[in-house]
Amino acid sequence: MSQTTTRFPLGTVTVSPAAAAALEAANLNPSTFLARHQAGDWSDEDREGNEWAVRYGHDIASMYPLPDGAELLVITALDRSCTCMLLESEYEDREIGMVEGYDTWARTYDIEKNPLIAIEEPRVQQLLDGLSFDTALDVGSGTGRHALRLARRGVRVTAIDQSPGMLDVARNASTAERLDIEFHLASIDGGLPFENASFDLVVSALMLCHMPDLRPTVRECARVLRPGGHLLITDFHPDAVARGWRTTFWAPGTAYLPQLRTMGAPAIWRPWRKQVWRLSRSKTPVRRS
Ligand SMILES: C[S@@+](CC[C@H](N)C(=O)[O-])C[C@H]1O[C@@H](n2cnc3c(N)ncnc32)[C@H](O)[C@@H]1O
Repeated sequence: MSQTTTRFPLGTVTVSPAAAAALEAANLNPSTFLARHQAGDWSDEDREGNEWAVRYGHDIASMYPLPDGAELLVITALDRSCTCMLLESEYEDREIGMVEGYDTWARTYDIEKNPLIAIEEPRVQQLLDGLSFDTALDVGSGTGRHALRLARRGVRVTAIDQSPGMLDVARNASTAERLDIEFHLASIDGGLPFENASFDLVVSALMLCHMPDLRPTVRECARVLRPGGHLLITDFHPDAVARGWRTTFWAPGTAYLPQLRTMGAPAIWRPWRKQVWRLSRSKTPVRRS
């Protein structure tokens, strides 16, 4: 009896009607491609990204040419809960509202191995370790990456974000660790709802790229800082944004692009999509504590 090698679980499998029809027309069986995908029978183009994805927990995506020239995509979600089979032509870039986008992303944001965060986090820690402060504000705190770490240090932390989903994750983590963080569910578009000179430290991590104009946000951060306080901002390089880089997250079959409010141009983005999708599964090893 032949033994099938399985390198990861597939979870719930769905096959799009178009993919099912294309396979049937070619007299091919979906299970053949699921087995190849799961056994690591990948094209040279997919191999490097997939080896990394299997090891570090990212989407695993394989592309197989069909006899009629179409390409079959098999994608397993980063949490291995589901696998989706579809035609490459069905792969969708979906513009999504900022709040809805982050609410959707909240489910996987902390388990995703994000190479950008892997670079940013140790640098932020290093910068903050050398400073002393009693109060901190995390602007666009998301799931609380920095807010939680600061609260563990004994800092009195306030966190503000417009996404209920992201803030819920942060709140639950804070409660589980019995930390005392003050959470505010609000957009900062109209300014920060805090008095002048309220905080020793203001952190804004990977958030400013969503601001159509950086100046009012930075002005607001400066306003709520105590004289001599520290402002720490992390983000994409503005050149990357200007050249069309988009904050993106993935689910099998879909690239989600939270609403564009910056100077990035969708016209530039679209032709890049396939390359960026492959690049997103780059081989950078990621460690998150
Ligand atoms: C990429 S996440 C970064 C989260 C967290 N700071 C981190 O570094 O992990 C960007 C966050 O900014 C929030 N955000 C974007 N625009 C915002 C706005 N106008 N007001 C409040 N929060 C905003 C989003 O909801 C999201 O949680």
